[in-house]
Amino acid sequence: MLILESLLKLFNLPVNNTLKISDQINPFNKVLRIEGDKSLSIRWALLASQAQGKSKASNLLMSEDVLNTIKCLKKLGVKIRYSKKSCEIYGKGLNSFKYKKNLILDCGNSGTLGRLLMGLLIHSNNKIKIVGDKSLSKRDFTRVTVPLSKFGANFKTNSGKLPVDVLGTKKPAPIFYHEKRGSAQCKSSVLLAALNTNGETKIRAKKSRNHTEVLLKYLNLPINVKQNKNYDIIKFFGKRKIKPLNYNIPSDISSSAFFIVLTSLSKKSKLKIKNININPSRTGIIKILRMMGVKIKLSNIKFHKGEKIADLFIESSKELKPINCPPKLNSSAIDEFLLIFLVAAKANGVSSFRDLSELNKKESPRLKLGSMILNKMGIKTILTNNSIKIFGNPDLKIRKKIKINNFLKDHRIFMTSTIAALVFGGRWHIYDKDSIKTSFPSFLKKIRSLGAKLS
Ligand code: S3P
Repeated sequence: MLILESLLKLFNLPVNNTLKISDQINPFNKVLRIEGDKSLSIRWALLASQAQGKSKASNLLMSEDVLNTIKCLKKLGVKIRYSKKSCEIYGKGLNSFKYKKNLILDCGNSGTLGRLLMGLLIHSNNKIKIVGDKSLSKRDFTRVTVPLSKFGANFKTNSGKLPVDVLGTKKPAPIFYHEKRGSAQCKSSVLLAALNTNGETKIRAKKSRNHTEVLLKYLNLPINVKQNKNYDIIKFFGKRKIKPLNYNIPSDISSSAFFIVLTSLSKKSKLKIKNININPSRTGIIKILRMMGVKIKLSNIKFHKGEKIADLFIESSKELKPINCPPKLNSSAIDEFLLIFLVAAKANGVSSFRDLSELNKKESPRLKLGSMILNKMGIKTILTNNSIKIFGNPDLKIRKKIKINNFLKDHRIFMTSTIAALVFGGRWHIYDKDSIKTSFPSFLKKIRSLGAKLS
């Protein structure tokens, strides 16, 4: 099948991007290694472009979102060399981008790239156009253009969406920014703008992943974070020289989550996943699944460049409990809710998830589509704009045909549906196989390595 696909692609013939699954996965006992974390890979590349000298990364995620980051930086005049094994970025210091006339930067599917990159562009002396694919072009960009305008930069949006034109300012001024959504992308965009701005930028941010702060601290830059119960106060002084950063990027917990859930919902299976980033601002999936009765053990815990990492050990779960999910865990599990919904589908009772409107603002409206997938599986849900109740069925066994259209080619919708097919049975037709290139190109290869039969 793979050879046939390669031949079709070679001769530019249409490839069928629908995955067909009609067999549940057999018990497995394996060890897996996962590629580098996507958030860290993009942040490393953007920061390395502002450093003075050569930075090198290994275990960088070579997915489309990261490759688009590299392409955008190259268009901005940054020298980058990369192979399958490593990537070298030759930074020329703060504000060293070359802003050619009529520059168009394509961020593909990546909200993280689009929003963080805009923070670095507040100095541009020529107009730059930021574009993206169909899914990214449906997403809100005012959430970053509004705070970035306060630095003095100018933005023209298409009714708040892409394409966005950026025209920078010669003299950005530091700002105070109140981040209320729990969005790490907004917080990080402002921090990257502050990097190039004289004076103190202050942010009051609802809790969200803190990789940018961790990296800035590791680079010895003047960042101060005061942690309160529900929010952080971040103070950052800009215009300091950045030293190069050599980084072996820890593996991605969001990609691991597909295998955590696959193992816990499969029969008589065990899995070890090595070297995973378990930054507490990302471990909502572990906390929530443990509350539902999933067995996850952590071992070999250590710190690497400020990030916490560990090996994870997961076993099949016998009985799953429903959850009334505390909203304070939402942002630390935001990319994993589709998978958590699958666990709730098999729990013994009704689970409820609240304050999740952000989930509908991702690559596709995931709260809505997550509910739709569960309904197709025969699971009852009660859905609102920001909440879902899931009526679990511990005896769930699907026998019918299920078709997942996934028009916006959302990678997480595709991968979650694949996991559902492998654990609950039924005859699934899932679109679009190519979507995995966004965040987890080796996903299907890894699924096959556990013994799954895929078309
Ligand atoms: C990300 C932050 C999250 C997450 C996204 C990656 C990041 O988005 O959903 O996949 O790397 O900062 P928000 O910050 O918009 O919630």
